[in-house]
Amino acid sequence: MSLIEVKNLSKIYQVYRKQPGFLGAVKGLFHREYNEVRAVDGVSFEIEKGEMVAFLGPNGAGKTTTLKMLSGLIYPTGGTATVLGHNPWQREDEYRRRFSLVMGQKNQLWWDLPAEESFLLNKEIYGIDDESYQGRIEELTRLLQVTEILSQPVREVSLGERMKLELIAALLHSPDVLFLDEPTIGLDVIAQRTIRECIARYNREKGVTILLTSHYMRDVEELCRRVIVINHGKIEYDGNLTGILEKFARHKLLHIRFRKSPTESELNKFGRVVKNVPPTATIEVARSRVLDASAQLLQKYEVEDLSIEEVPIEEVMANMFEHKELKNGSTPD
Ligand SMILES: Nc1ncnc2c1ncn2[C@@H]1O[C@H](COP(=O)(O)OP(=O)(O)OP(=O)(O)O)[C@@H](O)[C@H]1O
Ligand SMILES: [Mg+2]
Repeated sequence: MSLIEVKNLSKIYQVYRKQPGFLGAVKGLFHREYNEVRAVDGVSFEIEKGEMVAFLGPNGAGKTTTLKMLSGLIYPTGGTATVLGHNPWQREDEYRRRFSLVMGQKNQLWWDLPAEESFLLNKEIYGIDDESYQGRIEELTRLLQVTEILSQPVREVSLGERMKLELIAALLHSPDVLFLDEPTIGLDVIAQRTIRECIARYNREKGVTILLTSHYMRDVEELCRRVIVINHGKIEYDGNLTGILEKFARHKLLHIRFRKSPTESELNKFGRVVKNVPPTATIEVARSRVLDASAQLLQKYEVEDLSIEEVPIEEVMANMFEHKELKNGSTPD
């Protein structure tokens, strides 16, 4: 049996449809009309112990709704799920002690209190003994470099710092499963990297099973080999990340700042010139030629700065949905 098993999971939200105008509002008091939103529509997948899987999809695809069901925050309309042998929406105490949900958009710490106080509260809630608590706090604060801000009210710390504190709170009881819903959203690149490294290390060292959503390709590339793509509540792809990158992200963007700019026709030899405003240029280069092209550019011209950018996830998925996708790791030719 897999550590996470999801079968035909569905969630239909009933959304109250407001009638226009005053009369409509009065009518609405007696006869409410609802629209159905199929947020999650028959989703099935399995995740093995220790896997770190990216759960991707455009806005409104059903990612958060799925994670909420797996965390037992909301009831499904249909289907089944077991996580660590538990049915999440039975909300057993024993299950609660073994997983964590972190939402980048939501605050789980007490806003007006120092993070330390929230940590102590979690210590009580989860029944963590003194010794384990001390050990974990030390390890996590070192890992995330946040020692100085523990005694500051949470509302005073920066967004990146707050996210690190949220992660500590989520990891204090040493969960076996982590649901991370956009843990790096809105953070600066340095904070994103720290969070990523912490997640990677936690997965590596403790064998924690992780299901993570993100809109940043960098997170996905560095953390996950397997991706599950959801669109309109349905799974469109479940397989290797490389499988979709090779098919649907054929290019990368090279950003170059020259000391002395070459002509546009020279740049054209490397790929499609997307932007050329000397001394900077952006060239779209085939994935397989990126290293070669960078080396040649550096060799031939006086380059001040060169960086390689991954195609945004949104674009990869748009490409994917344009070609109609086959499920379970196979991609169309
Ligand atoms: N509480 C709710 N009541 C009604 N509809 C909802 C509710 N929560 C979500 N929805 C709808 O369900 C669909 C899926 O939403 P969900 O939050 O799961 O998407 P998501 O994949 O997490 O998107 P994003 O990338 O923007 O976070 C959307 O159409 C959304 O509007
Ligand atoms: Mg979401």
